[in-house]
Amino acid sequence: MSITSDAEFTGMQKISECVAQVLKAMREYCKPGINTLELDEFGGRLLSQMGAKSAPKLTYGFPGHTCISVNEVVAHGLPSASMVLQEGDLINIDVSAELDGYWADNGGSFVLGEDKHNHAALVKASKEILESALSQIRGGVKIADIGRLIETQAAKRGYKVIKNLAGHGVGRSLHEEPHDILNCYDRYNTTRFKKNSIVAIETFIATQSTYAQTAEGDKWTLKGNKGGFVAQHEHTIMVTGGLPVILTQANEILD
Ligand code: CO
Ligand code: CO
Repeated sequence: MSITSDAEFTGMQKISECVAQVLKAMREYCKPGINTLELDEFGGRLLSQMGAKSAPKLTYGFPGHTCISVNEVVAHGLPSASMVLQEGDLINIDVSAELDGYWADNGGSFVLGEDKHNHAALVKASKEILESALSQIRGGVKIADIGRLIETQAAKRGYKVIKNLAGHGVGRSLHEEPHDILNCYDRYNTTRFKKNSIVAIETFIATQSTYAQTAEGDKWTLKGNKGGFVAQHEHTIMVTGGLPVILTQANEILD
């Protein structure tokens, strides 16, 4: 969406603050021994206390309030009582929701406790690349150039990017135009970021895979085509003539 009034901006601020606080609280709730169903239900209770509704549930009938993707799962992990978190796991939590007709989306990967399996460098790369992408986004910048920045910075650190998952417009629904804020350069995409528009920018930095595909067993869980691990960090922002307004800042994923 494009912000045209103070009321719209306030509406976006409210839902963005909500998903950011829920993401932060869920990350703090994580400890070895809890399962992802408990974690999701905790997040679901927080959303409903704030009057917000889960966006993936509303939009796609997703069987959970939030997406929790553990280790080799790239995205859209299903909450499950049998998925018990362990020290050293690479965990991604993605929280998106609707409140009063406004929608926001944010997510982040982190290592649970001690970094037993050496995922910390991947997580750090994803955070720093998101930060760097955000610092370059303003009205008039080509979307493809941000894709190139993400891909180039990932390659410099020895990583790949997932090419079929992308950032997107958000605000009046979960996924809006522009739909293809890719993590790689697409020379056919001549679209530019527009001042006052609301977009969700998300990295997908990978150790081995370049595509995400549906795993065996259910229609949601995405895994990498060549295995390995993926880290994602996502903020909902408003594009301006200068640095963007990071509406989901309160999640502290970049701290
Ligand atoms: Co998103
Ligand atoms: Co998201």
